Amino acid sequence: MAEPTASKAPYVVEWRDGFLIDIAQVDREHKHLFTLVKRLELGTVQATIDELLDYVVTHFTNEQKLMEDSGYPAFNEHLRLHEEFASAVADFLSSGDEWNDDRVQTLRRFLNKWLIGHIMTHDLRFGKWYRDHHGTDAPEVVAKPAKKVGWFDRLLGRG
Ligand SMILES: [Fe+2]
Repeated sequence: MAEPTASKAPYVVEWRDGFLIDIAQVDREHKHLFTLVKRLELGTVQATIDELLDYVVTHFTNEQKLMEDSGYPAFNEHLRLHEEFASAVADFLSSGDEWNDDRVQTLRRFLNKWLIGHIMTHDLRFGKWYRDHHGTDAPEVVAKPAKKVGWFDRLLGRG
């Protein structure tokens, strides 16, 4: 039997408070990532992807700095998850396939699913660990993307 026509509808996942990990800066950045994913549409896809990838680098860099500075024991494992994500995105984008509505929806679906899975498992685990070891007021961090995220640009052929 054919898929219901609902599969043609844009795949939309709205931010919800259930995604909060209770670290204000990380939550704010996660929320913005959802906004950017939602903005992906055929007419402006490349510009939004560029903005999204830059913001992913900013967010990963900040989150990783907070993890590293706070002595998070699973830091290296978490770094690897971020790298695997970047690698998967780079693979998807490097196919060079022409953009059409289906491909945009595939990208949105992948990004939303990855974000939710990652936040609800790994970032939430960090949030709990942080609260147990450092309390509720995490400092705002402004990390400079440096060699630690150079892999992202390299994967995307920008380095
Ligand atoms: Fe993360």
